[in-house]
Amino acid sequence: MKALTYHGAKNVKVENVPDPGLANDDDIILKVTATAICGSDLHIYRGKIPGMEHGDILGHEFMGIVEEAGPDVTNLRKGDRVVIPFVIACGQCYYCNKKLFAGCESTNPQTGTMDGRGAIMNKKSSTSGAGLFGYSHLYGGYAGGQAEYVRVPKANVGPIRVPDALADEQVLFLSDILPTGYQAAVNAQLGPGSSVAIFGAGPVGLMAALSARFLGADKIFMVDHHAYRLDFARDTYGVIPINFDDDDDPAETILRATGNHGVDACIDAVGFEAKGSALETALATLKLEGSSGKALRQCIAATRRGGVISVPGVYAGFIHGFLFGDAFEKGLIFKMGQTHAQLYMPELLEHIGNGRMKPEVIVTHRLNLADAVRGYEIFNDKEEDCRKVVLTPSSRPIRASALAPSLPGGRLRAISLTRTTRTMPS
Ligand SMILES: NC(=O)c1ccc[n+]([C@@H]2O[C@H](COP(=O)([O-])OP(=O)(O)OC[C@H]3O[C@@H](n4cnc5c(N)ncnc54)[C@H](O)[C@@H]3O)[C@@H](O)[C@H]2O)c1
Ligand SMILES: [Zn+2]
Ligand SMILES: [Zn+2]
Repeated sequence: MKALTYHGAKNVKVENVPDPGLANDDDIILKVTATAICGSDLHIYRGKIPGMEHGDILGHEFMGIVEEAGPDVTNLRKGDRVVIPFVIACGQCYYCNKKLFAGCESTNPQTGTMDGRGAIMNKKSSTSGAGLFGYSHLYGGYAGGQAEYVRVPKANVGPIRVPDALADEQVLFLSDILPTGYQAAVNAQLGPGSSVAIFGAGPVGLMAALSARFLGADKIFMVDHHAYRLDFARDTYGVIPINFDDDDDPAETILRATGNHGVDACIDAVGFEAKGSALETALATLKLEGSSGKALRQCIAATRRGGVISVPGVYAGFIHGFLFGDAFEKGLIFKMGQTHAQLYMPELLEHIGNGRMKPEVIVTHRLNLADAVRGYEIFNDKEEDCRKVVLTPSSRPIRASALAPSLPGGRLRAISLTRTTRTMPS
């Protein structure tokens, strides 16, 4: 079959690889009908995620048709049309019982040199978190869904059947960015009348804006430096755009616009590759800094006392310029992490079905899987006003829309805290 494989930074290829087969009795083999490129894939594409091996198949946002089901699969049968959550969860462990599916402790086992505990640095005797599709051997080394076929483990827990009346593009984002934006808005405790600032107008920021509106938020600021993304968010979700190329201190602007109090909540939909601090970017390249703290510092400054900072953007390791004292002084609440996708998928599918959520409007690019390399270039370089790329494997006809840290490893060293924090801007 054809699949998009990793061969180093900015080096991905579509090549022929062996078809997957059932490995466990509760696996299915899925024939992929649509798959997307996620902002998280860009961290891999840029060579920032360790634990990638040559030939690894990428992709964790995908859907398709059940081609084959193992004997213990009770919920699905061949021919069912399903969307797959990017988090692989067993449904039975300590964390799955708490519906904290991204914490599933049985799907990222110890293999080879990987201890199954992702990017956590201070591991002690903690258990592992969930395995993820197509997201390096730190997260289980599972083959991803940017392929014609993919093996889906724990098929009784993850996949959700979708009605034929809904086109692929309408439901595809249930696999990741829609629940991610929704969890970010729920974690931000948004409700009728809330004010919120969303940092990052990429797909996750846009899904957070959709969800903020859905939950009744009144005032939504959105910060980015891609005018075309901000314009879309303004026109679609009524956000107040702030372009950090024109305004080098968005948090100050947000404070002034809210009576110097700040917003009820900030959502950091940017993550560890945030732009804006040349110092942190340089330190991160030298592996002296885990992440850029720029977006988080802006969030802390722009949130009112007692407010919430919700972080769907991916972070790993340490940040020296993390102003924990400011957060303490303001009495802030932090919520973050990988999305418990399985928890939100059923209710979000209902909202799509009844027309209250239309996540597909963000799609700008529809390409054949054979052209996936170009899709990565376009999305990474923000060419052609790209917001979201959907790939369709060649063997199936395109179903048109009805309406599209350097993670820390063992080599890390400590760095003088005082020097870096003192020079941190905004
Ligand atoms: N928590 C989860 O489960 C989960 C799921 C999906 C994606 N993610 C993460 O969410 C983040 C966003 O994903 P995406 O698909 O929207 O990616 P994206 O790369 O398309 O979007 C990120 C946006 O942030 C903007 N940005 C960069 N620096 C900024 C700054 N200092 N302030 C404001 N905006 C800034 C960029 O211009 C870009 O438009 C990534 O880190 C991704 O890995 C997390
Ligand atoms: Zn993702
Ligand atoms: Zn579990």
